[in-house]
Amino acid sequence: MTADCVIELSGVWTQIGASIIHRDIDLCVRSGEVFAVIGESGGGKTMLLRLMLGLEPARGTVRVFDRPLQGYPADDFKRMRRRWGVLFQQGALFSALSVYDNVALPLRELRQLPEEMIRELVMTKLALVEIDAASADKLPSQLSGGMVKRVALARALALDPELLFLDEPTAGLDPERSDGFVNLVQRLRRELNLTVVMVSHDVDTLIALADRVAVLADQRLITVGPLWEVVEFPHPFVHSFFLRHRTRSAQQSVDELRRVLGQSRQAA
Ligand SMILES: Nc1ncnc2c1ncn2[C@@H]1O[C@H](COP(=O)(O)OP(=O)(O)OP(=O)(O)O)[C@@H](O)[C@H]1O
Ligand SMILES: [Mg+2]
Repeated sequence: MTADCVIELSGVWTQIGASIIHRDIDLCVRSGEVFAVIGESGGGKTMLLRLMLGLEPARGTVRVFDRPLQGYPADDFKRMRRRWGVLFQQGALFSALSVYDNVALPLRELRQLPEEMIRELVMTKLALVEIDAASADKLPSQLSGGMVKRVALARALALDPELLFLDEPTAGLDPERSDGFVNLVQRLRRELNLTVVMVSHDVDTLIALADRVAVLADQRLITVGPLWEVVEFPHPFVHSFFLRHRTRSAQQSVDELRRVLGQSRQAA
C-alpha cells in the first residue's frame, strides 16, 4: 500500500452473471490528481467507478482513504461517503426537484443543519459553479444541458468533498459548453484541492484535465500514464480510440494530437 493512494485497487475482479467485466485490476489514484479512465462502450468504466463507491461487489481489495471498503461498519461508511461527491453519467438531477432542492438534498440527508444554513450553502455552491440565484427555483427541464451538468456538479460538491467522481462530464455538451465545463473543473480543482476520478471519451477533455489516463480493454487495465504516453501504447483499442475520437484543438489528426501532447509534456 502506497500512502499516497486516495483509492487503491488490488487484484479486483467483477462479474455480472457469467460475464467477467474486470480481471485482476490494480490501480492507485494519487492524492490531488485527475485520474481519467477510457475504454470501450460497455467495457466497465462506470462499473469501475461504482466499485470505488462501494456500490458493486468485487473480488479483491478496494481501499478508499486508506481503508478497505469491504466490511466497513454502516456508520463509518456513511461518514466516509460524505468525503466524496459524484456526478453520475445518467440521471444527473432529480427531475421533480428544483435546482435548489437538488443541491440541498445531500445537506438535508445529514439531518443536522438548519434551513438557513442549508440555503447559504446551496447558494454558495450554485455561485461556485456559476449558476445565478434566479435559476435556483427552476426545474431541471427548464435548464440547458450545460446548466444541468453544472447544477449536478454543485450537488456533488455540496458536502465539500475531497474526492470527486465525474462520469462522462462533457458528453452531450456542445463544444463551447464542454470547454466551459472543463474550465470550471480546472478552477475548482485548484481552489478546492480535489482528487478527481473521471471517465471520459472526449480527447479535448482528457487533454485539458487528465494528469494520468488508465485504459480499460479486454477486461483489464492495459496501461496507465500521462496521455502522451498512452497515445503511443501498442493496442488496437488505443489506436482506434485516438483515430475515432479526433480532437477539435488537435486539428483532426493523430499526428497533430502527438504534437499537442508533446507541447503539454514539455510544459509539465
Ligand atoms: N446493473 C446491471 N445489470 C446487468 N448488467 C450490467 C449492469 N450494469 C452494467 N452492466 C453491464 O456491465 C458492462 C459494463 O457496463 P458499464 O456501464 O460499466 O460500461 P461503460 O464502460 O461505462 O459503458 P459506456 O461507455 O457505454 O458508459 C456492460 O456490459 C453492461 O451491460
Ligand atoms: Mg458508463
